[in-house]
Amino acid sequence: MDAALTALLRADLLDAGYTVDRLRQLWGDEADAALARGDRVPARRALEALGAAGVGTSAVGSREQGAASILARVFLLGEPAPDDALTTALPRLGAQGARELGLVDDAGRAMLDLRPYSSIDAGGAVQWFIASDLGEVSLGTALPADHVLGVGGASLTLAALIPTEPVDSVLDLGTGCGIQSLHAARHAQRVVATDISSRALERARLTLALNDVTSVELRLGDLFEPVAGERFDRIVSNPPFVITPRVEGVPVYEYRDGGRVGDAIVEQVVRGAADHLSPGGTAHLLGNWEYRDAMGGDGLARVRSWITEAGLDGWVVERERQSPAEYAATWIRDGGTRVGSPEYDELATAWLDDFAARGVTAVGFGYVVLRQPVRADAARFVRTEVINSPLGSAPTGIGDHVLAGFRAHDRLAALDDTALLAERLSVAGDVTEERHYWPGDENPTVIRLRQGGGFARTIDADAALAGLVGASDGELTVGEIIGALADLLEVDEGALRDDLLPRVRELVVTGLLTLD
Ligand SMILES: C[S@@+](CC[C@H](N)C(=O)[O-])C[C@H]1O[C@@H](n2cnc3c(N)ncnc32)[C@H](O)[C@@H]1O
Repeated sequence: MDAALTALLRADLLDAGYTVDRLRQLWGDEADAALARGDRVPARRALEALGAAGVGTSAVGSREQGAASILARVFLLGEPAPDDALTTALPRLGAQGARELGLVDDAGRAMLDLRPYSSIDAGGAVQWFIASDLGEVSLGTALPADHVLGVGGASLTLAALIPTEPVDSVLDLGTGCGIQSLHAARHAQRVVATDISSRALERARLTLALNDVTSVELRLGDLFEPVAGERFDRIVSNPPFVITPRVEGVPVYEYRDGGRVGDAIVEQVVRGAADHLSPGGTAHLLGNWEYRDAMGGDGLARVRSWITEAGLDGWVVERERQSPAEYAATWIRDGGTRVGSPEYDELATAWLDDFAARGVTAVGFGYVVLRQPVRADAARFVRTEVINSPLGSAPTGIGDHVLAGFRAHDRLAALDDTALLAERLSVAGDVTEERHYWPGDENPTVIRLRQGGGFARTIDADAALAGLVGASDGELTVGEIIGALADLLEVDEGALRDDLLPRVRELVVTGLLTLD
Protein backbone atom coordinates (compact mmCIF):
# COMPACT_ATOMS: atom_id res chain seq x y z
CA MET A 1 0.00 0.00 0.00
CA ASP A 2 1.45 3.35 -1.06
CA ALA A 3 1.57 5.61 2.03
CA ALA A 4 1.82 8.84 0.03
CA LEU A 5 -1.21 8.00 -2.14
CA THR A 6 -3.17 6.88 0.93
CA ALA A 7 -2.45 10.22 2.62
CA LEU A 8 -3.80 12.02 -0.47
CA LEU A 9 -6.92 9.85 -0.37
CA ARG A 10 -7.46 10.64 3.31
CA ALA A 11 -7.15 14.38 2.66
CA ASP A 12 -9.61 14.10 -0.26
CA LEU A 13 -12.15 12.12 1.78
CA LEU A 14 -11.97 14.65 4.61
CA ASP A 15 -12.36 17.57 2.18
CA ALA A 16 -15.30 15.86 0.46
CA GLY A 17 -17.19 15.78 3.76
CA TYR A 18 -17.73 12.06 3.15
CA THR A 19 -19.59 11.43 6.41
CA VAL A 20 -22.57 9.34 7.50
CA ASP A 21 -24.61 12.49 8.16
CA ARG A 22 -23.76 14.04 4.79
CA LEU A 23 -24.88 10.92 2.92
CA ARG A 24 -28.11 10.73 4.89
CA GLN A 25 -28.72 14.40 4.08
CA LEU A 26 -28.09 13.73 0.39
CA TRP A 27 -30.44 10.79 -0.05
CA GLY A 28 -32.79 11.08 2.92
CA ASP A 29 -33.85 8.74 5.73
CA GLU A 30 -35.95 6.40 3.61
CA ALA A 31 -33.18 5.69 1.12
CA ASP A 32 -30.78 5.29 4.02
CA ALA A 33 -33.02 2.65 5.60
CA ALA A 34 -33.45 0.91 2.22
CA LEU A 35 -29.69 0.77 1.76
CA ALA A 36 -29.31 -0.83 5.18
CA ARG A 37 -31.70 -3.54 3.89
CA GLY A 38 -29.51 -4.06 0.84
CA ASP A 39 -31.71 -2.05 -1.56
CA ARG A 40 -29.71 0.64 -3.37
CA VAL A 41 -32.44 1.87 -5.73
CA PRO A 42 -33.90 4.69 -3.56
CA ALA A 43 -30.40 6.06 -2.79
CA ARG A 44 -29.41 5.91 -6.44
CA ARG A 45 -32.61 7.71 -7.50
CA ALA A 46 -32.11 10.39 -4.87
CA LEU A 47 -28.55 11.08 -6.03
CA GLU A 48 -29.60 11.03 -9.69
CA ALA A 49 -32.31 13.57 -8.90
CA LEU A 50 -29.73 15.83 -7.25
CA GLY A 51 -27.55 15.63 -10.37
CA ALA A 52 -30.50 16.21 -12.70
CA ALA A 53 -31.64 19.27 -10.73
CA GLY A 54 -28.29 20.91 -11.38
CA VAL A 55 -27.39 20.10 -14.97
CA GLY A 56 -30.17 18.11 -16.56
CA THR A 57 -28.17 14.92 -16.50
CA SER A 58 -28.04 12.00 -14.16
CA ALA A 59 -24.55 10.89 -15.10
CA VAL A 60 -22.16 10.21 -12.25
CA GLY A 61 -19.73 12.63 -13.84
CA SER A 62 -21.75 15.83 -13.58
CA ARG A 63 -19.42 18.31 -11.90
CA GLU A 64 -22.23 19.99 -10.01
CA GLN A 65 -22.70 16.93 -7.88
CA GLY A 66 -20.83 17.13 -4.63
CA ALA A 67 -17.73 15.06 -4.17
CA ALA A 68 -19.49 13.08 -1.41
CA SER A 69 -22.26 12.14 -3.82
CA ILE A 70 -19.80 10.87 -6.43
CA LEU A 71 -17.91 8.86 -3.81
CA ALA A 72 -21.14 7.31 -2.57
CA ARG A 73 -22.23 6.34 -6.08
CA VAL A 74 -18.90 4.71 -6.82
CA PHE A 75 -17.95 3.10 -3.51
CA LEU A 76 -21.35 2.31 -1.99
CA LEU A 77 -23.73 1.88 -4.91
CA GLY A 78 -21.32 0.23 -7.34
CA GLU A 79 -21.66 2.67 -10.27
CA PRO A 80 -18.71 3.24 -12.62
CA ALA A 81 -17.30 6.76 -12.77
CA PRO A 82 -15.42 8.41 -15.63
CA ASP A 83 -12.00 9.87 -14.84
CA ASP A 84 -13.23 13.45 -14.61
CA ALA A 85 -15.79 12.50 -11.97
CA LEU A 86 -13.14 10.66 -9.96
CA THR A 87 -10.89 13.70 -10.22
CA THR A 88 -13.73 15.95 -9.04
CA ALA A 89 -14.27 13.75 -6.01
CA LEU A 90 -10.59 13.02 -5.34
CA PRO A 91 -8.70 16.07 -6.63
CA ARG A 92 -5.38 15.32 -4.90
CA LEU A 93 -5.31 11.59 -5.64
CA GLY A 94 -6.79 11.82 -9.13
CA ALA A 95 -8.18 9.00 -11.26
CA GLN A 96 -4.74 7.53 -11.92
CA GLY A 97 -3.90 7.54 -8.21
CA ALA A 98 -7.22 5.84 -7.47
CA ARG A 99 -6.30 3.07 -9.93
CA GLU A 100 -2.80 2.73 -8.49
CA LEU A 101 -4.23 2.38 -5.00
CA GLY A 102 -6.55 -0.37 -6.25
CA LEU A 103 -9.68 1.66 -5.52
CA VAL A 104 -11.11 1.41 -9.06
CA ASP A 105 -10.48 -0.62 -12.19
CA ASP A 106 -9.82 0.75 -15.66
CA ALA A 107 -13.55 1.21 -16.23
CA GLY A 108 -13.84 3.38 -13.10
CA ARG A 109 -15.67 0.67 -11.15
CA ALA A 110 -14.95 0.38 -7.44
CA MET A 111 -12.79 -2.56 -6.47
CA LEU A 112 -13.54 -2.13 -2.78
CA ASP A 113 -16.15 -0.69 -0.48
CA LEU A 114 -15.12 2.60 1.08
CA ARG A 115 -17.60 4.22 3.40
CA PRO A 116 -17.90 6.64 6.27
CA TYR A 117 -18.73 5.38 9.76
CA SER A 118 -19.71 7.29 12.87
CA SER A 119 -20.02 6.26 16.47
CA ILE A 120 -20.23 7.67 19.96
CA ASP A 121 -18.70 6.17 23.06
CA ALA A 122 -17.79 7.53 26.48
CA GLY A 123 -14.80 9.26 24.85
CA GLY A 124 -17.07 11.23 22.50
CA ALA A 125 -18.03 11.05 18.81
CA VAL A 126 -15.84 9.63 16.06
CA GLN A 127 -16.05 9.74 12.28
CA TRP A 128 -13.98 7.22 10.38
CA PHE A 129 -13.58 5.74 6.89
CA ILE A 130 -13.86 1.96 6.54
CA ALA A 131 -12.39 -0.05 3.68
CA SER A 132 -13.78 -3.55 3.07
CA ASP A 133 -14.74 -5.74 0.14
CA LEU A 134 -17.66 -4.81 -2.10
CA GLY A 135 -20.89 -6.17 -0.65
CA GLU A 136 -23.87 -7.74 -2.38
CA VAL A 137 -25.38 -4.30 -3.05
CA SER A 138 -22.45 -3.29 -5.25
CA LEU A 139 -21.59 -6.72 -6.63
CA GLY A 140 -25.15 -7.66 -7.48
CA THR A 141 -24.16 -11.29 -6.83
CA ALA A 142 -23.56 -13.59 -3.86
CA LEU A 143 -20.36 -12.98 -1.91
CA PRO A 144 -17.16 -14.86 -2.76
CA ALA A 145 -15.69 -17.21 -0.15
CA ASP A 146 -12.79 -14.86 0.69
CA HIS A 147 -15.02 -11.81 1.17
CA VAL A 148 -13.81 -9.24 3.72
CA LEU A 149 -16.81 -8.08 5.65
CA GLY A 150 -17.58 -4.42 6.29
CA VAL A 151 -19.22 -3.10 9.43
CA GLY A 152 -22.35 -5.14 10.19
CA GLY A 153 -24.77 -5.49 13.07
CA ALA A 154 -22.46 -7.89 14.91
CA SER A 155 -19.54 -5.45 14.53
CA LEU A 156 -21.62 -2.72 16.21
CA THR A 157 -22.67 -5.10 18.97
CA LEU A 158 -19.06 -5.98 19.71
CA ALA A 159 -17.98 -2.32 19.53
CA ALA A 160 -20.49 -1.59 22.32
CA LEU A 161 -18.95 -4.43 24.37
CA ILE A 162 -15.47 -2.85 24.33
CA PRO A 163 -14.81 -1.00 27.60
CA THR A 164 -13.59 2.58 27.50
CA GLU A 165 -11.27 2.32 30.48
CA PRO A 166 -7.70 2.95 29.23
CA VAL A 167 -5.34 -0.04 29.03
CA ASP A 168 -1.88 -0.62 27.68
CA SER A 169 -2.47 -3.44 25.18
CA VAL A 170 -5.37 -4.91 23.19
CA LEU A 171 -5.59 -7.97 20.93
CA ASP A 172 -8.21 -7.77 18.15
CA LEU A 173 -8.64 -11.38 17.01
CA GLY A 174 -10.06 -11.68 13.47
CA THR A 175 -9.89 -7.99 12.65
CA GLY A 176 -11.49 -8.13 9.18
CA CYS A 177 -11.80 -4.54 7.94
CA GLY A 178 -10.24 -3.27 11.20
CA ILE A 179 -13.33 -1.75 12.80
CA GLN A 180 -12.71 -3.14 16.30
CA SER A 181 -9.08 -2.03 16.21
CA LEU A 182 -10.20 1.54 15.53
CA HIS A 183 -12.49 1.39 18.56
CA ALA A 184 -9.93 -0.42 20.73
CA ALA A 185 -7.12 2.00 19.81
CA ARG A 186 -9.11 4.84 21.38
CA HIS A 187 -8.51 3.34 24.80
CA ALA A 188 -5.16 1.55 24.42
CA GLN A 189 -1.51 2.40 23.94
CA ARG A 190 -1.12 -0.38 21.38
CA VAL A 191 -3.27 -2.90 19.55
CA VAL A 192 -2.29 -6.13 17.82
CA ALA A 193 -4.83 -7.13 15.17
CA THR A 194 -4.76 -10.60 13.64
CA ASP A 195 -6.58 -12.35 10.84
CA ILE A 196 -6.19 -15.59 8.90
CA SER A 197 -6.92 -13.67 5.71
CA SER A 198 -4.14 -11.59 4.16
CA ARG A 199 -6.85 -9.90 2.13
CA ALA A 200 -8.56 -8.79 5.36
CA LEU A 201 -5.27 -7.43 6.68
CA GLU A 202 -4.85 -5.41 3.48
CA ARG A 203 -8.28 -3.86 3.98
CA ALA A 204 -7.55 -3.24 7.67
CA ARG A 205 -4.24 -1.59 6.74
CA LEU A 206 -6.07 0.85 4.47
CA THR A 207 -8.78 1.48 7.07
CA LEU A 208 -6.17 2.31 9.72
CA ALA A 209 -4.16 4.56 7.39
CA LEU A 210 -7.26 6.44 6.26
CA ASN A 211 -7.99 7.27 9.89
CA ASP A 212 -4.38 8.09 10.73
CA VAL A 213 -4.27 5.39 13.40
CA THR A 214 -0.68 4.24 13.88
CA SER A 215 -0.87 2.25 17.12
CA VAL A 216 -2.20 -0.97 15.52
CA GLU A 217 0.12 -3.77 14.41
CA LEU A 218 -1.32 -6.27 11.91
CA ARG A 219 -0.37 -9.95 12.01
CA LEU A 220 -1.40 -12.87 9.81
CA GLY A 221 -2.35 -16.27 11.25
CA ASP A 222 -4.84 -18.70 12.77
CA LEU A 223 -6.48 -17.58 16.04
CA PHE A 224 -3.82 -17.05 18.75
CA GLU A 225 -0.93 -18.39 16.64
CA PRO A 226 0.44 -14.92 15.75
CA VAL A 227 0.56 -13.91 19.45
CA ALA A 228 2.04 -17.10 20.91
CA GLY A 229 3.55 -16.38 24.34
CA GLU A 230 2.10 -12.84 24.54
CA ARG A 231 -0.44 -11.47 26.99
CA PHE A 232 -2.79 -8.51 26.62
CA ASP A 233 -4.84 -6.35 28.96
CA ARG A 234 -7.87 -6.72 26.72
CA ILE A 235 -8.96 -9.08 23.94
CA VAL A 236 -11.80 -8.23 21.59
CA SER A 237 -13.17 -10.63 19.02
CA ASN A 238 -16.13 -11.15 16.76
CA PRO A 239 -14.82 -14.57 15.76
CA PRO A 240 -15.95 -16.49 12.69
CA PHE A 241 -18.38 -18.48 14.81
CA VAL A 242 -20.99 -19.52 12.28
CA ILE A 243 -21.57 -23.26 12.63
CA THR A 244 -21.11 -24.87 9.23
CA PRO A 245 -21.36 -28.52 8.12
CA ARG A 246 -17.98 -29.88 7.07
CA VAL A 247 -19.17 -31.64 3.91
CA GLU A 248 -18.49 -31.09 0.25
CA GLY A 249 -20.73 -28.61 -1.52
CA VAL A 250 -21.27 -26.35 1.50
CA PRO A 251 -19.56 -23.00 0.85
CA VAL A 252 -16.94 -21.95 3.38
CA TYR A 253 -16.97 -18.20 3.97
CA GLU A 254 -13.78 -17.05 5.64
CA TYR A 255 -15.46 -14.01 7.17
CA ARG A 256 -17.96 -16.01 9.20
CA ASP A 257 -16.68 -19.56 9.46
CA GLY A 258 -13.45 -20.51 11.21
CA GLY A 259 -13.31 -23.98 9.67
CA ARG A 260 -14.02 -25.94 12.87
CA VAL A 261 -16.78 -28.43 13.69
CA GLY A 262 -19.82 -27.10 15.58
CA ASP A 263 -19.03 -24.35 18.08
CA ALA A 264 -15.40 -25.46 18.54
CA ILE A 265 -14.02 -22.10 17.40
CA VAL A 266 -15.79 -20.25 20.21
CA GLU A 267 -14.59 -22.86 22.69
CA GLN A 268 -11.02 -22.42 21.38
CA VAL A 269 -11.19 -18.63 21.69
CA VAL A 270 -12.58 -18.85 25.24
CA ARG A 271 -10.00 -21.40 26.37
CA GLY A 272 -7.19 -19.64 24.47
CA ALA A 273 -7.96 -16.32 26.17
CA ALA A 274 -6.64 -17.80 29.44
CA ASP A 275 -3.13 -18.01 27.95
CA HIS A 276 -3.24 -14.50 26.49
CA LEU A 277 -4.81 -12.27 29.14
CA SER A 278 -2.70 -10.44 31.69
CA PRO A 279 -3.83 -10.77 35.33
CA GLY A 280 -7.05 -8.75 35.65
CA GLY A 281 -7.29 -8.49 31.84
CA THR A 282 -10.65 -8.98 30.14
CA ALA A 283 -11.88 -10.47 26.86
CA HIS A 284 -15.01 -9.26 25.08
CA LEU A 285 -16.38 -11.72 22.54
CA LEU A 286 -19.41 -12.61 20.50
CA GLY A 287 -20.24 -16.27 20.06
CA ASN A 288 -22.56 -19.14 19.30
CA TRP A 289 -23.02 -22.22 21.45
CA GLU A 290 -24.78 -25.46 20.75
CA TYR A 291 -27.45 -26.95 22.99
CA ARG A 292 -26.84 -30.68 22.79
CA ASP A 293 -28.71 -33.71 24.06
CA ALA A 294 -25.74 -34.36 26.32
CA MET A 295 -25.33 -32.20 29.49
CA GLY A 296 -29.09 -31.95 29.81
CA GLY A 297 -29.16 -29.98 26.58
CA ASP A 298 -27.90 -26.79 28.21
CA GLY A 299 -25.71 -24.66 25.89
CA LEU A 300 -24.94 -22.09 28.55
CA ALA A 301 -23.70 -24.88 30.81
CA ARG A 302 -21.25 -25.86 28.05
CA VAL A 303 -19.91 -22.30 27.85
CA ARG A 304 -19.69 -22.20 31.64
CA SER A 305 -17.60 -25.38 31.61
CA TRP A 306 -15.15 -23.89 29.04
CA ILE A 307 -14.71 -20.81 31.23
CA THR A 308 -14.38 -22.72 34.49
CA GLU A 309 -11.95 -25.25 33.05
CA ALA A 310 -9.83 -22.38 31.68
CA GLY A 311 -9.65 -20.92 35.21
CA LEU A 312 -11.29 -17.65 34.14
CA ASP A 313 -14.07 -15.49 35.51
CA GLY A 314 -16.88 -14.98 33.02
CA TRP A 315 -20.20 -13.35 32.30
CA VAL A 316 -22.18 -14.84 29.43
CA VAL A 317 -25.35 -13.27 28.13
CA GLU A 318 -27.43 -15.21 25.65
CA ARG A 319 -29.34 -12.75 23.46
CA GLU A 320 -31.05 -15.15 21.09
CA ARG A 321 -31.72 -18.86 20.67
CA GLN A 322 -32.62 -20.51 17.37
CA SER A 323 -33.80 -23.97 16.46
CA PRO A 324 -31.47 -25.91 14.12
CA ALA A 325 -33.81 -25.21 11.17
CA GLU A 326 -33.96 -21.46 11.92
CA TYR A 327 -30.20 -21.31 12.32
CA ALA A 328 -29.59 -23.14 9.04
CA ALA A 329 -32.03 -20.84 7.21
CA THR A 330 -30.37 -17.70 8.62
CA TRP A 331 -26.91 -18.61 7.39
CA ILE A 332 -27.90 -20.24 4.11
CA ARG A 333 -29.82 -17.06 3.21
CA ASP A 334 -26.85 -14.94 4.38
CA GLY A 335 -24.82 -16.75 1.70
CA GLY A 336 -27.28 -15.54 -0.94
CA THR A 337 -29.29 -18.78 -1.47
CA ARG A 338 -33.07 -18.39 -1.76
CA VAL A 339 -35.32 -20.48 0.50
CA GLY A 340 -37.21 -23.06 -1.54
CA SER A 341 -34.59 -23.39 -4.28
CA PRO A 342 -33.05 -26.86 -4.89
CA GLU A 343 -29.68 -25.50 -3.65
CA TYR A 344 -31.35 -24.35 -0.44
CA ASP A 345 -32.87 -27.77 0.18
CA GLU A 346 -29.51 -29.44 -0.30
CA LEU A 347 -27.72 -27.03 2.05
CA ALA A 348 -30.47 -27.21 4.69
CA THR A 349 -30.21 -31.02 4.62
CA ALA A 350 -26.45 -30.79 5.18
CA TRP A 351 -26.94 -28.37 8.09
CA LEU A 352 -29.63 -30.46 9.77
CA ASP A 353 -27.60 -33.68 9.29
CA ASP A 354 -24.61 -31.95 10.89
CA PHE A 355 -26.67 -30.76 13.87
CA ALA A 356 -28.29 -34.19 14.24
CA ALA A 357 -24.85 -35.87 14.32
CA ARG A 358 -24.02 -33.96 17.55
CA GLY A 359 -27.54 -34.09 18.99
CA VAL A 360 -27.94 -30.31 18.66
CA THR A 361 -31.38 -29.10 19.71
CA ALA A 362 -30.79 -25.32 19.55
CA VAL A 363 -28.07 -22.72 19.04
CA GLY A 364 -27.58 -19.76 21.37
CA PHE A 365 -25.99 -16.48 20.37
CA GLY A 366 -24.67 -13.79 22.65
CA TYR A 367 -21.86 -12.04 24.49
CA VAL A 368 -19.01 -13.56 26.44
CA VAL A 369 -16.93 -11.43 28.78
CA LEU A 370 -13.96 -13.14 30.43
CA ARG A 371 -11.57 -12.00 33.11
CA GLN A 372 -8.20 -13.38 34.12
CA PRO A 373 -8.22 -13.57 37.91
CA VAL A 374 -5.60 -11.44 39.59
CA ARG A 375 -5.08 -14.09 42.26
CA ALA A 376 -5.16 -17.77 41.42
CA ASP A 377 -6.71 -18.64 44.81
CA ALA A 378 -9.60 -16.12 44.50
CA ALA A 379 -13.09 -17.61 44.22
CA ARG A 380 -14.24 -17.77 40.58
CA PHE A 381 -17.18 -15.70 39.36
CA VAL A 382 -19.02 -17.22 36.39
CA ARG A 383 -22.45 -15.91 35.55
CA THR A 384 -24.57 -17.13 32.64
CA GLU A 385 -27.99 -15.74 31.82
CA VAL A 386 -30.53 -15.18 29.08
CA ILE A 387 -31.44 -11.56 28.31
CA ASN A 388 -33.48 -11.39 25.15
CA SER A 389 -35.23 -8.06 25.69
CA PRO A 390 -34.23 -5.18 23.38
CA LEU A 391 -31.34 -2.96 24.45
CA GLY A 392 -32.30 -0.04 22.21
CA SER A 393 -31.24 0.55 18.64
CA ALA A 394 -27.62 1.40 19.35
CA PRO A 395 -26.57 0.11 22.75
CA THR A 396 -23.43 1.72 24.07
CA GLY A 397 -21.40 1.19 27.17
CA ILE A 398 -22.25 -2.49 27.68
CA GLY A 399 -18.56 -3.31 28.14
CA ASP A 400 -18.15 -0.72 30.90
CA HIS A 401 -21.37 -1.93 32.49
CA VAL A 402 -20.17 -5.55 32.62
CA LEU A 403 -16.80 -4.53 34.05
CA ALA A 404 -18.63 -2.58 36.76
CA GLY A 405 -20.60 -5.79 37.44
CA PHE A 406 -17.38 -7.80 37.89
CA ARG A 407 -16.08 -5.17 40.32
CA ALA A 408 -19.34 -5.04 42.24
CA HIS A 409 -19.12 -8.82 42.57
CA ASP A 410 -15.57 -8.53 43.93
CA ARG A 411 -16.61 -6.00 46.54
CA LEU A 412 -19.65 -8.03 47.57
CA ALA A 413 -17.54 -11.19 47.86
CA ALA A 414 -15.58 -9.41 50.56
CA LEU A 415 -18.75 -8.50 52.51
CA ASP A 416 -20.58 -11.07 54.61
CA ASP A 417 -24.22 -10.35 55.40
CA THR A 418 -23.36 -8.46 58.59
CA ALA A 419 -20.97 -6.22 56.68
CA LEU A 420 -23.51 -5.72 53.88
CA LEU A 421 -26.13 -4.60 56.43
CA ALA A 422 -23.72 -1.83 57.49
CA GLU A 423 -23.29 -0.54 53.89
CA ARG A 424 -25.02 2.57 52.55
CA LEU A 425 -26.30 1.86 49.04
CA SER A 426 -27.58 4.27 46.40
CA VAL A 427 -30.09 3.61 43.69
CA ALA A 428 -28.50 4.08 40.24
CA GLY A 429 -29.53 7.20 38.33
CA ASP A 430 -31.04 5.24 35.42
CA VAL A 431 -33.53 3.26 37.56
CA THR A 432 -37.24 4.05 37.43
CA GLU A 433 -40.16 2.35 39.15
CA GLU A 434 -43.43 1.34 37.55
CA ARG A 435 -46.57 0.42 39.54
CA HIS A 436 -49.76 -1.15 38.22
CA TYR A 437 -53.05 -1.25 40.19
CA TRP A 438 -56.32 -3.02 39.77
CA PRO A 439 -58.80 -0.16 39.24
CA GLY A 440 -59.84 1.25 42.62
CA ASP A 441 -57.25 -0.80 44.54
CA GLU A 442 -54.90 0.99 46.97
CA ASN A 443 -52.10 -1.53 46.72
CA PRO A 444 -50.21 -2.19 43.52
CA THR A 445 -50.57 -5.64 41.98
CA VAL A 446 -47.32 -5.23 40.04
CA ILE A 447 -44.19 -3.23 40.90
CA ARG A 448 -41.35 -3.16 38.41
CA LEU A 449 -37.91 -1.61 38.58
CA ARG A 450 -36.57 -0.62 35.18
CA GLN A 451 -32.94 -0.02 34.32
CA GLY A 452 -32.42 2.65 31.63
CA GLY A 453 -28.84 1.71 30.63
CA GLY A 454 -26.78 -1.47 30.84
CA PHE A 455 -28.86 -4.50 29.92
CA ALA A 456 -32.10 -2.52 30.40
CA ARG A 457 -33.27 -5.06 32.97
CA THR A 458 -36.81 -5.18 34.31
CA ILE A 459 -37.01 -6.52 37.86
CA ASP A 460 -40.29 -7.64 39.41
CA ALA A 461 -40.29 -6.29 42.95
CA ASP A 462 -42.53 -6.68 45.97
CA ALA A 463 -43.31 -3.85 48.40
CA ALA A 464 -40.27 -4.70 50.56
CA LEU A 465 -37.73 -4.68 47.73
CA ALA A 466 -39.24 -1.56 46.14
CA GLY A 467 -39.17 0.11 49.57
CA LEU A 468 -35.51 -0.82 50.09
CA VAL A 469 -34.48 0.45 46.65
CA GLY A 470 -36.52 3.64 47.11
CA ALA A 471 -34.88 4.37 50.47
CA SER A 472 -31.32 3.67 49.23
CA ASP A 473 -30.06 7.23 49.00
CA GLY A 474 -26.58 6.71 50.39
CA GLU A 475 -27.62 7.98 53.85
CA LEU A 476 -29.27 5.02 55.60
CA THR A 477 -27.57 1.63 55.98
CA VAL A 478 -29.14 -1.48 54.48
CA GLY A 479 -29.77 -2.73 58.02
CA GLU A 480 -31.56 0.49 59.04
CA ILE A 481 -33.77 0.37 55.97
CA ILE A 482 -34.69 -3.29 56.53
CA GLY A 483 -35.49 -2.54 60.20
CA ALA A 484 -37.81 0.30 59.21
CA LEU A 485 -39.46 -1.80 56.49
CA ALA A 486 -40.05 -4.70 58.91
CA ASP A 487 -41.92 -2.28 61.24
CA LEU A 488 -43.89 -0.75 58.39
CA LEU A 489 -44.88 -4.08 56.81
CA GLU A 490 -45.33 -5.75 60.20
CA VAL A 491 -43.08 -8.71 59.36
CA ASP A 492 -40.24 -10.43 61.19
CA GLU A 493 -37.01 -8.45 60.68
CA GLY A 494 -34.77 -11.52 60.51
CA ALA A 495 -36.96 -13.20 57.90
CA LEU A 496 -37.09 -9.99 55.87
CA ARG A 497 -33.30 -9.71 56.02
CA ASP A 498 -32.89 -13.29 54.76
CA ASP A 499 -35.35 -12.60 51.98
CA LEU A 500 -33.89 -9.26 50.86
CA LEU A 501 -30.11 -9.61 51.15
CA PRO A 502 -29.61 -12.07 48.24
CA ARG A 503 -31.78 -9.82 46.09
CA VAL A 504 -29.82 -6.76 47.15
CA ARG A 505 -26.60 -8.52 46.13
CA GLU A 506 -28.12 -9.27 42.71
CA LEU A 507 -29.18 -5.62 42.27
CA VAL A 508 -25.65 -4.46 43.12
CA VAL A 509 -24.02 -6.85 40.62
CA THR A 510 -26.50 -5.86 37.91
CA GLY A 511 -26.01 -2.14 38.58
CA LEU A 512 -29.43 -1.07 39.90
CA LEU A 513 -27.92 -0.36 43.32
CA THR A 514 -24.41 0.95 43.87
CA LEU A 515 -22.02 0.57 46.79
CA ASP A 516 -20.63 3.96 47.75
C1 LIG B 1 -17.07 -12.08 11.67
S1 LIG B 1 -15.59 -11.42 11.01
C2 LIG B 1 -15.27 -10.09 12.14
C3 LIG B 1 -14.62 -8.90 11.50
C4 LIG B 1 -14.47 -7.68 12.39
N1 LIG B 1 -13.62 -7.95 13.52
C5 LIG B 1 -15.82 -7.16 12.86
O1 LIG B 1 -16.04 -7.13 14.08
O2 LIG B 1 -16.62 -6.78 12.03
C6 LIG B 1 -14.43 -12.68 11.47
C7 LIG B 1 -13.00 -12.44 10.99
O3 LIG B 1 -12.20 -13.54 11.44
C8 LIG B 1 -11.32 -13.92 10.40
N2 LIG B 1 -10.98 -15.35 10.59
C9 LIG B 1 -11.60 -16.45 10.09
N3 LIG B 1 -11.00 -17.56 10.53
C10 LIG B 1 -9.99 -17.16 11.33
C11 LIG B 1 -9.00 -17.85 12.07
N4 LIG B 1 -8.96 -19.18 12.10
N5 LIG B 1 -8.09 -17.12 12.75
C12 LIG B 1 -8.12 -15.76 12.74
N6 LIG B 1 -9.04 -15.06 12.05
C13 LIG B 1 -9.95 -15.75 11.36
C14 LIG B 1 -12.07 -13.65 9.13
O4 LIG B 1 -11.18 -13.51 8.04
C15 LIG B 1 -12.84 -12.38 9.49
O5 LIG B 1 -12.10 -11.24 9.14
